[in-house]
Amino acid sequence: MTSIIEKRLSLHQRLAEQEQENRALKSQNTQLQALATLGSATCMIAHEINNLLTPLTTYAALAVQNPDDAALAKKVLDKTVRNCKRASRIMQSMLAMANGQDRQQESARVRAMVDEVFTCLCRDFAKDSIVVQTSIPEDLQVDCVPIQMEQVLMNLVLNARDAMLPGGGILKIVAGEDGDQVSITVSDTGRGIPPEHLPDIFRPFFTTKTQKDRPAGSNSGSGVGLAFCRRIVDAHQGQIDVASQPGKGSSFTIRLPRKPSHDRL
Ligand SMILES: Nc1ncnc2c1ncn2[C@@H]1O[C@H](COP(=O)(O)OP(=O)(O)OP(=O)(O)O)[C@@H](O)[C@H]1O
Ligand SMILES: [Mg+2]
Repeated sequence: MTSIIEKRLSLHQRLAEQEQENRALKSQNTQLQALATLGSATCMIAHEINNLLTPLTTYAALAVQNPDDAALAKKVLDKTVRNCKRASRIMQSMLAMANGQDRQQESARVRAMVDEVFTCLCRDFAKDSIVVQTSIPEDLQVDCVPIQMEQVLMNLVLNARDAMLPGGGILKIVAGEDGDQVSITVSDTGRGIPPEHLPDIFRPFFTTKTQKDRPAGSNSGSGVGLAFCRRIVDAHQGQIDVASQPGKGSSFTIRLPRKPSHDRL
């Protein structure tokens, strides 16, 4: 009899200990998840800021080589102010996202967002023998966090450019309404993506790029661009898809609800 009571007491004690251990593990898990989220947000912020700094560095170097060109120096200073302000807005928006805070969406003109991307890139694509063609209705609007969606477009444009170097080609951006969605397609006539790579390209840190694929002054790929795009598009309740033919080119299509059901970004 005593032994049964003792056994039950000992079992209760072990159960209590297990429960305590479970609680401790759960809290540790929550802390680790928060750290992982912060880690990936930090990585993405660094990547996006690099996207803004790289063209600026090349542009500023040009001004240094031409000290008598006052008009060029003024343009470089204007772009520096613009891109630095942008970098700070990206940091705020990504950190808020990592902290689970709501971001206010606004109605943004798609054409204005695309123009902003090319302005930030400070690079004449014609110099790389790339012809840029756009077909975007003047008044096409979509609800989004513009700073985030512009960075998505910037990553797609940079990938398209990389895929067409050094020979050049056609970079096309087409946008329009598709039922209750807005679609934006960025396509190129570059090297394309082998089918065996397609399942991996949105995975963080997947890259096939080495320094030699990139324009002078830029880094080799880090494989963060498309992971960033997917994360932002998901947060907008949208989809991002790819179609590609090796040797012919690729096209990435983003579909966003014109009016998302909630605006938690
Ligand atoms: N337009 C494209 N044409 C061909 N391959 C592409 C294209 N876009 C993406 N890829 C492939 O997907 C990979 C991942 O792209 P992602 O943008 O995530 O990283 P990355 O461009 O290599 O580096 P970065 O972190 O600087 O963006 C690329 O390395 C490339 O192999
Ligand atoms: Mg990229």
